[in-house]
Amino acid sequence: MHGCGRKMFREILMSLVLFFVANVLVWAGSPGDLKPRVPPERLEEAKSFQNPFMASEEIIAKGKKLYEGKAFCSACHGLEGSGGTSGGRKTPSGAQPPTNFADAAWQAARTDGEIFWILKHGSHGTDMVSYMPLYVSEEEVWQIVSYIRTFGGL
Ligand code: HEC
Repeated sequence: MHGCGRKMFREILMSLVLFFVANVLVWAGSPGDLKPRVPPERLEEAKSFQNPFMASEEIIAKGKKLYEGKAFCSACHGLEGSGGTSGGRKTPSGAQPPTNFADAAWQAARTDGEIFWILKHGSHGTDMVSYMPLYVSEEEVWQIVSYIRTFGGL
């Protein structure tokens, strides 16, 4: 009876461990991670794009106006940039949460050029569609990029 209980305990413990390992694996491969969103064959080129603007107060203010206004980024990414946790909404498909721009790890993982690329082409297979040139011009995208950078406390 005693031995049997211990065996059962071990089995339960084992399945708990397996459960957590499996979850960590799923999480690591989930869209919420920091893997580049630019396809590998375009990544080098995307990283080389430079923001032509200095992040002056004027440029940042223009970016904020676009982010909250006609480019409606805040509808999904939130007014504070932290997506669903700051008034942003979950995406219609519900599959990928909008990126949290207030995450310092995300800010460090992305170059301005990559953000620009995503705004031009979208993040394939997600609710992040292309915004340029349909909604915003190239110049406006760079202003938005400058504003997004302020969420990281930079
Ligand atoms: C309909 C909801 C929605 C709107 C509106 C929206 N986004 Fe997104 N965005 C998303 C989702 C969902 C993702 C996550 C996609 C992914 O994980 O690849 C995303 C991802 C991104 C990324 C890529 C993040 C990365 O990891 O590289 C950037 C940059 C971005 N959005 C900027 C913007 C900007 C700027 C605007 C406004 C012009 C905007 N988004 C408008 C839903 C939205």
